[in-house]
Amino acid sequence: MPQPTTRRNQSPLWPAQLDHIQRNSDRPDALVAFYRDAAGMAAREVGPLLWLLEGPQRRILIGRGEKGEQPLNVFRVQSPPQLAALRSWLQGRGIALLPSPTPLFSEGFAVRDPDGRLAAFGLPNPAFAAPVAADTAALRLPARLQHVVVATTDLPRLTGFYEKELGFVASDHVYDGAPGEGPVTATFLRSDPEHHSFAAFRAPEVRPDHHCYETSCWNDIRDWADHLATLPVKLWWGPGRHGPGNNLFFMVEDPDGHKVEWSAELEVMSRDMAPRAWKHEERTLNYWGQSWMRS
Ligand SMILES: [Fe+2]
Repeated sequence: MPQPTTRRNQSPLWPAQLDHIQRNSDRPDALVAFYRDAAGMAAREVGPLLWLLEGPQRRILIGRGEKGEQPLNVFRVQSPPQLAALRSWLQGRGIALLPSPTPLFSEGFAVRDPDGRLAAFGLPNPAFAAPVAADTAALRLPARLQHVVVATTDLPRLTGFYEKELGFVASDHVYDGAPGEGPVTATFLRSDPEHHSFAAFRAPEVRPDHHCYETSCWNDIRDWADHLATLPVKLWWGPGRHGPGNNLFFMVEDPDGHKVEWSAELEVMSRDMAPRAWKHEERTLNYWGQSWMRS
């Protein structure tokens, strides 16, 4: 009897990392000040009503727009041949490719996901490659921009696009009811061995959810919380430990209420590891205590 074979996802997306995101606000000055002071980044204007906030291994764009918008998530591939292969892969699947929407990349393109958000892929623009002077205590604290998470009213449609069309690999699914059965309430997707670079939650509305900075250890979590306390910025959730990803974490809110996470010990998984199943309950999202339940 023939043995079932596992069909490996062959998308040239692997490996790719989250390079930057864009957050918009009707009061961008407040966001610029928050990410400069709280998240330890240096600010500079890089376009009309567009600011770059950057520190070691972390950078985001802040633009003027609607409060709470996060119109763009940008992923970095490793080489021009990988980018060309990804372009061909997506064109072969009939996905419309749009011009790269970010000044921080010199080559690349974007696609529009089913919720209308842009996901861009490309290679960094050398004009923005100069290291940032770590001239404040917060700029010296380690925090690498690592993942971005959204909420959606149609989780299967959204995560199906990222997994089946773009080539992200599922790490974990959370199920309403018995694990492996019933509707999925969250899916975590990876594009390199780190547990997730993108994830999505089922929710009553389409919205951004949070983005996350990975630190090097538990003591960094302490140092960041001590730093935030000086501003003061209160912890909004945590510290705790997530089930999916097994990472230590806490979250705060930026001035528009968008959640920002600091993390450590995020799990790694090989490309071929199959996704695991979790139950939709508080303990899944925080072993240590109460959870932010999106649905
Ligand atoms: Fe997260």
